[in-house]
Amino acid sequence: MDLDNAVVFERLVRTRRSIRGFYRNPVPLQLIDRVIALAKRAPSSMDGQLWHVQVLTGEPLARVRASNMGEMMAGARAKRDTFTHHEYAGRHRDRQIGVAKKQFRAMGIERDDRARRQDWTLRGFRQFDAPVSPTDKVLDPGATCHFDLGALCYGIVLAAWDQGLGTVVNGQGIARSDIIREIAFIPEGEVVLT
Ligand SMILES: Cc1cc2nc3c(=O)[nH]c(=O)nc-3n(C[C@H](O)[C@H](O)[C@H](O)COP(=O)(O)O)c2cc1C
Repeated sequence: MDLDNAVVFERLVRTRRSIRGFYRNPVPLQLIDRVIALAKRAPSSMDGQLWHVQVLTGEPLARVRASNMGEMMAGARAKRDTFTHHEYAGRHRDRQIGVAKKQFRAMGIERDDRARRQDWTLRGFRQFDAPVSPTDKVLDPGATCHFDLGALCYGIVLAAWDQGLGTVVNGQGIARSDIIREIAFIPEGEVVLT
């Protein structure tokens, strides 16, 4: 790699950040195709490339958001395809709380402002109102596949950033995997990952 490429890559990695507020403009499908094609250059165990990428936009995405919101407001529990950790404890919990405090402070949301805090949480379930939402799924829920899908995901966010498109990886948005499964016609043999 020559020096120019090294500088470009470093700038890409250093400037990329999660974006949680979006313009309404639709994202051109050619741009999404390009981002996903680049991301698929990611390494994967035994070159398995077990990923499938679903892109939801427009009306199906609006239905996912509405269903997510409805379920969460009604107090429904998360129903993920994947095993998740229990509540964080100890230093992991401390870090989680510290990050949340910083985030709310940066947004000017006071600790006792329950309405704005709830509004922020619900935005996560609405995919932060992003105009498009890729969902990865794998055939095998094993750890190696999760590793492969993590590489793909990072490829997506970096390639998108390089093309001037902000993204956020959003675990909240698939808290109800069954909703995505139904709306995106994902077969039972596949796993909704993130
Ligand atoms: C697997 C995964 C799930 C995530 N889920 C969420 C989420 O549900 N809501 C959210 O706001 N950010 C989510 N994020 C984004 C992280 O919070 C973010 O990457 C982290 O705070 C670092 O910030 P940065 O991406 O701006 O560097 C997720 C990231 C990953 C990798």
